[in-house]
Amino acid sequence: MTVTPAEAASRAAQILARPATINGLTVPNRIAMAPMTRMFSPGGIPGEDVVSYYSRRAAAGVGLIVTEGTYVGHASAGQSDRVPRFHGEEQLAGWAKVADAVHAAGGTIVPQLWHIGMVRKQGDQPFPDAPAVGPSGLRIGEDEVTGKAMTQADVDDVIGAFAEAAAAAERIGFDGVEIHGAHGYLVDQFLWAGTNRRTDAYGGDPVARTKFAAEIVAAVRETVSPEFPVIFRYSQWKQDAYDARLAETPEELEAVLTPLVTAGVDAFHASTRRYWHPEFDGSDLNLAGWTKKLTGKTAITVGSVGLDGEFGKAFQGEGAGLGSLDNLLDRLERDEFDLVAVGRALLQDPAWAEKVLSGRFEELAPFDAAALKTLS
Ligand SMILES: Cc1cc2nc3c(=O)[nH]c(=O)nc-3n(C[C@H](O)[C@H](O)[C@H](O)COP(=O)(O)O)c2cc1C
Repeated sequence: MTVTPAEAASRAAQILARPATINGLTVPNRIAMAPMTRMFSPGGIPGEDVVSYYSRRAAAGVGLIVTEGTYVGHASAGQSDRVPRFHGEEQLAGWAKVADAVHAAGGTIVPQLWHIGMVRKQGDQPFPDAPAVGPSGLRIGEDEVTGKAMTQADVDDVIGAFAEAAAAAERIGFDGVEIHGAHGYLVDQFLWAGTNRRTDAYGGDPVARTKFAAEIVAAVRETVSPEFPVIFRYSQWKQDAYDARLAETPEELEAVLTPLVTAGVDAFHASTRRYWHPEFDGSDLNLAGWTKKLTGKTAITVGSVGLDGEFGKAFQGEGAGLGSLDNLLDRLERDEFDLVAVGRALLQDPAWAEKVLSGRFEELAPFDAAALKTLS
């Protein structure tokens, strides 16, 4: 059946403009901004340019902003003095301005709380003397121990740092938090057998490897109000190991997700590189789809939304390819997942959401890597 551009635009608006719920939070529509490290915060302090970078996107229709990864208050958490920190008076004062401006623009916002673990090179900023730490002191793809295998005291300190950051987020007016458990950083280093060789209670089978993440979630949950949303981002793929997998089957995935649900996760952000890829054989559900099916929790999908040349084709009467908006809308309509996070397309065009919500597809420009270099 041929659909006119006007009919297609109206369908997109209807499906994407519905509010979504994450615990006590109502997100005004289904479009989220994916967390993207930008390194535009000298001294770890988000300045006025960061305030306007986020509020511009909220004003132009992004319902939920997940900030770039921001370091929790642990000396080994990061490696750049230009990545914003989520601890310290000046840093939090900067973040409070970001949250206020996003709210004034009609959006909602959560910080992505981050510890990079063994990705850190010792000697890097902002705390050059701190060691790189991880479950077993191993970097992805290496068998030689080059960092510090975390002691129970280290584990407790890091869990405390996540809980303190979450408490700060609620205190300064954010709408929830996202815990960065993806892409081979610290929390994921515990989840993945490739970097977790521990023989204590934090290593072994998938449930034991999930213990650290679940304890972070539980500590965060205990620190914030019951209705304050706690989102957990995870991925199969790792930085420098794109074929890595936490789970080969839905049963294995369920083993990882269940303790996180029990600990108090309200929503999962399932990070994939292409949202249309089926996660397991025998079903076209993607990773977010499986996550929602297995946990019943709010699920956020992500991965190349708006980047495929197919994206707006339905709106030119050319039918629907895999990376098309039609495919995305079909999945949303089936409640496969609840929200759609958009990364690079929103760097390219701060008004991307507004244009999609109002069917102005002809105004969308293809992604150009030059967009990574500015904070416009
Ligand atoms: C410049 C850049 C920085 C990123 N930084 C983060 C980050 O801090 N935390 C995170 O979880 N993902 C990060 N990502 C991954 C994105 O959140 C997103 O999952 C990925 O870009 C795929 O979405 P897209 O195809 O819409 O860009 C980053 C991606 C880009 C392009």
